[in-house]
Amino acid sequence: MAAASGPKPTSPIAIDGPAASGKGTLARRVAEHLGFDWLDTGLLYRAVALSVLDRGLDPIQAATILNLRTLGDPRLRDDAVAQEASRVAAIAGVRAALLAYQRGFAERPPGGRGAVLDGRDVGTVVCPGAPVKLFVTADVAIRAQRRLSELHSRGLATTYSAVLEDLQQRDARDSQRAVAPLRPAEDALVLDTSALDADQALAQAIDLIERKSGGSSGMGSANA
Ligand code: DC
Repeated sequence: MAAASGPKPTSPIAIDGPAASGKGTLARRVAEHLGFDWLDTGLLYRAVALSVLDRGLDPIQAATILNLRTLGDPRLRDDAVAQEASRVAAIAGVRAALLAYQRGFAERPPGGRGAVLDGRDVGTVVCPGAPVKLFVTADVAIRAQRRLSELHSRGLATTYSAVLEDLQQRDARDSQRAVAPLRPAEDALVLDTSALDADQALAQAIDLIERKSGGSSGMGSANA
């Protein structure tokens, strides 16, 4: 989709939500639509997890020396890495080590136009002053079905119940931890994607962003 013309919503845009809620796809597409840069902050925690699993590093040390070139490793998408990411993400020193990079990206996005960041604590901790915050959620059974379809499309054999259990464990760990737990910021707009496909979620998100920023970014108000 081409970058939109017209008034730009203020940057950064913070998009948080639980695993498999559709927030990553949504964040990428919102960024494309606005011509902004996108940072999937979960990749940072996954990359730390992978170096803990691969190299046996201490998680805080792994976060401190994180090489951003590893963010393209396809193994970051594995479920074992996701579970370990959820564990290392509960360590305050790991979160502290990753904070400056995320804030720098939000404040000085590489393309210079604006930034969209997605994760668990973007609206609450990384960018508490973000002018637009979305909290994307969906029923856990629907999220499990979506994740199962994605894993099957990648040729991975697994079952619905295994995927559901994995998501429930991560939801519990991510929302019950002491540091930066998953929760909507007080000023976040909640977007439930349970009954929406990716196009409908994008249209609703753009509509919410436009209303928040008082401008038009070119999607119209089809879902207003
Ligand atoms: O978004 P994701 O599934 O790729 O994230 C993997 C894990 O990383 C997730 O279970 C919790 C953690 N995470 C976090 O604690 N804070 C973030 N901003 C992003 C991810």
